[in-house]
Amino acid sequence: MNLFIKILGGCIIASSFLSCSNQEEQNTKATSFPNKDSELAILMRDVVENTEKVKNQIVNGEEIDFFMEFEKLHTAIPTDPDVRNDGRFTSFADSYIFTVKELINSEEDKTSLYNNMIQACVSCHEQICPGPVKRIKKLRIK
Ligand code: HEC
Repeated sequence: MNLFIKILGGCIIASSFLSCSNQEEQNTKATSFPNKDSELAILMRDVVENTEKVKNQIVNGEEIDFFMEFEKLHTAIPTDPDVRNDGRFTSFADSYIFTVKELINSEEDKTSLYNNMIQACVSCHEQICPGPVKRIKKLRIK
């Protein structure tokens, strides 16, 4: 019983640090899922790392290089198992992947294509996972 209470307490504490939660919007659904290491969360860390790399490549006028498997957005298991249920995640994921492909394939201004891509991250996160929004906005190229 004691152990149970400790575990329960640990979960409550952990949930207050959940990546999707933030101070302004503590009432989002995702706050009840304290597991930070879902397949999707790990994929997102690759996404962030890759995005930072691509940002530097654009700023320095170098070839851009995507190593992450962004198609996995559709299959990676999220912390919140219901995340794909209402279809919003899937359509946000599609528009994000579209912007990535535009950035890779188009010869247009890479900086604005890159910022469109960041906007696609922000759109999904504002609706589904508001915690990291501020951090994501910092990835924009000014
Ligand atoms: C289609 C929706 C969607 C898109 C697009 C998206 N994310 Fe996410 N992101 C999520 C969800 C949902 C989670 C929560 C994952 C979990 O906990 O299982 C997440 C988690 C994260 C996290 C926290 C990871 C951790 O350590 O727990 C960061 C940071 C993040 N995303 C950044 C980004 C960036 C940067 C982009 C764009 C380059 C992006 N996301 C695009 C939905 C999205």
